[in-house]
Amino acid sequence: MANLPGSYWKGTVLATDTQFGDTGKGKLVDEGAQYADVIIKTNGGANAGHTVCNKYGEFKLHLIPAGIFNPEALCLIGSGVVVDPLQFAGELEELLDKKVPLAKCLLSKDSHLVLPWHKIRDSLREKNRGEGKIGTTGRGIGPTFADRTNREGLRVGDLLDSNFEKRFMQILHEQERVILAMGGGKFEDYFDKNKTMKQLREAREVIMPRIINTAEVIYLKKEEGKNILGEAGQGALLDLDFGGYPYVTSSHPGVIGFMLSTGLSIKDIDKVVGSTKAYMTRVGEGPMPTEQDNEIGDYLQKVGGEIGATTGRIRRCGWFDIPATEYGARTSGVTTLALMKLDVLDGLDEIKVCTGYQAGDRVYNKLFDIDPVFCEGIKPVYQTFKGWKQPTTEVRLYDDLPQRAKEYISFIEEGVGIPIKIVSVGPDRQATIYR
Ligand code: IMP
Repeated sequence: MANLPGSYWKGTVLATDTQFGDTGKGKLVDEGAQYADVIIKTNGGANAGHTVCNKYGEFKLHLIPAGIFNPEALCLIGSGVVVDPLQFAGELEELLDKKVPLAKCLLSKDSHLVLPWHKIRDSLREKNRGEGKIGTTGRGIGPTFADRTNREGLRVGDLLDSNFEKRFMQILHEQERVILAMGGGKFEDYFDKNKTMKQLREAREVIMPRIINTAEVIYLKKEEGKNILGEAGQGALLDLDFGGYPYVTSSHPGVIGFMLSTGLSIKDIDKVVGSTKAYMTRVGEGPMPTEQDNEIGDYLQKVGGEIGATTGRIRRCGWFDIPATEYGARTSGVTTLALMKLDVLDGLDEIKVCTGYQAGDRVYNKLFDIDPVFCEGIKPVYQTFKGWKQPTTEVRLYDDLPQRAKEYISFIEEGVGIPIKIVSVGPDRQATIYR
């Protein structure tokens, strides 16, 4: 019997990503948010980019959670997120201009602020890395998290301080010296200080009335038995600790990031939904064992519209990777999978799935890290499937999917070892099959 959407999203649920990000989590969260009382963005910052298509149009969001489109809900930016105040104010203004009914959006006082020097440091660090560059989004994410760990910089709550501008200017002067020491130029080469100060003042006005202790609100909502939905950024294979270091982001997309950002603990969590794309993509550098730098990759890129929502970079594309996805799902605490973008495979004659990595005489089926050096020396082992060659976008019941598509889904489900309860066959909310 089909699972009812309302019961699927009941309780405290985290929607995360088992792969390298960009699996279609924005659509998944937009779907789940219809049933949520509270939606919390848990990690990352404006490096994320989710595309949401609903009755109001198509929206590309970075910092504002994809769950913003439920006007009945409360939308929170948790403490594990780094907040670029200009980006936040800009995105909110754009949404308000479009007269879309929105959730009330509040921010944690404990989130670190991404300020102009973080972005400059991000791009200078990348330049200085040369061949070893990570391919960051350039949104200042790594340097802001580094400052946070170093207990430097400013937090969202500091915007409420009447001395905020004085503190900002003091740090600006310090950071100017840091940037010169990194081989960068003077700040005038990068931005107009007066203009930025003016924009920051405006953004501060927008943000100040929205600053709260999110942990307290989340605790109270949980006590009231409300439905809570966590919205993670990026993906498990980019996790700072579990991903293929150093080709990772600076936060934790999985269940650990959810706990850090909310104050909830493992015993409070009812379900972790792992958004999983029916094939693999990656942006930036780092290992991607099943990458197809050929006509298959081109097909997936074009049909899947695989262009980074944040950077506009073309995503690297390849076949579904069971060992990597299983590892990502396991380390991020996933309990149920949502298989996204199945329809992208509709036109393929043949579809491959990686079941293991061959290194010398040994085949590895289970990963305990995704080490870049190890990945360089391996060869993926594939199982080949015949394509179903039928459009699936209009299908709404699992049983109506082509038999070969169902076999593909079952194979992935068995390989990853977690039930697939949602199959997405198109960008619209309606193109969602509950199983
Ligand atoms: P950063 O998070 O900008 O420091 O980038 C670190 C790595 O994570 C780079 O490979 C980025 O391309 C990747 N990355 C960051 N955010 C996202 C995302 O939302 N989707 C996919 N990849 C991301």
